[in-house]
Amino acid sequence: MSQLARFADKVVIVTGAASGIGRAVLVRLVSEGAIAYGIDVNEAGLKETVELAEKQAAAGGRASFIAASISDEQEVKRFFQQVVEKEGRLDVLVNMAGILRSSQTTETSLAQFMEVINTNLVGTFLCCREALPHLVKTKGNIVNAASTSVYFGHPYMAAYSASKGGIMSMTRSLAWEYIRQGVRVNAIAPGGIATPLAAAQNQRMDGLDQSLFMHMTRPDQLFGQPEQVADVVAMLASADGGFMTGEVVKIDGGVHN
Ligand SMILES: NC(=O)c1ccc[n+]([C@@H]2O[C@H](COP(=O)([O-])OP(=O)(O)OC[C@H]3O[C@@H](n4cnc5c(N)ncnc54)[C@H](O)[C@@H]3O)[C@@H](O)[C@H]2O)c1
Repeated sequence: MSQLARFADKVVIVTGAASGIGRAVLVRLVSEGAIAYGIDVNEAGLKETVELAEKQAAAGGRASFIAASISDEQEVKRFFQQVVEKEGRLDVLVNMAGILRSSQTTETSLAQFMEVINTNLVGTFLCCREALPHLVKTKGNIVNAASTSVYFGHPYMAAYSASKGGIMSMTRSLAWEYIRQGVRVNAIAPGGIATPLAAAQNQRMDGLDQSLFMHMTRPDQLFGQPEQVADVVAMLASADGGFMTGEVVKIDGGVHN
């Protein structure tokens, strides 16, 4: 457990907090004193995350959740309003909610393509838009979830890669737009992290050309842990990342060098 208290009295929202990286981030920030709200469509997973966070809470940290979809504009408005009405401020937004669907491009329907874009890219945009007026007041910051797919070709993931490329560009755009207001906007680009999303991807590889995936894993097949990603998110979202904005930080165990 961390001995740091970099988020004491800070109000944070973490999307995708019911699972994987989002869960690890929420637990980590609460262990460092954050007043954290987890957002996700998976209410049962959110409850588990809050229980885990409460066990590790320190420095006044506490956790709550709101079940909502980041791709529903009205729901996004509602949960930001709820948090700010209750806590009076917002210091950090961590956008980790996302989905991965893989298929041969010629077999991908427009509806399938748009589902990924609407969740990952549009959802991240909606959350950033609602958060920014509050973050301007606190000189807060945002951490978004890109992926190593923004740097190197990830086959059968046209929609996912496009959504993550969009998130990377949007991160840089917002970072520059808000630089005078003191709001920092960064992203992480994880690769090969052991989460349900990565496990489901591995199961969907049947019938696809496996050799195209060779460049995406370490020679020792080692996957990163969500907590190792949370370590980096916590740094970026805290004062330790205070001179970083518009940055996209790769966390992939060195695969894409
Ligand atoms: N695991 C990896 O190797 C990896 C690599 C690169 C990028 N990422 C990114 O990191 C982020 C977290 O991924 P993870 O691996 O922890 O996945 P995960 O599936 O464990 O967690 C993603 C969470 O997002 C939630 N979610 C999906 N759609 C939502 C919506 N519309 N509204 C609210 N919540 C929604 C899911 O319910 C789930 O709890 C994602 O954006 C993913 O693209 C992961």
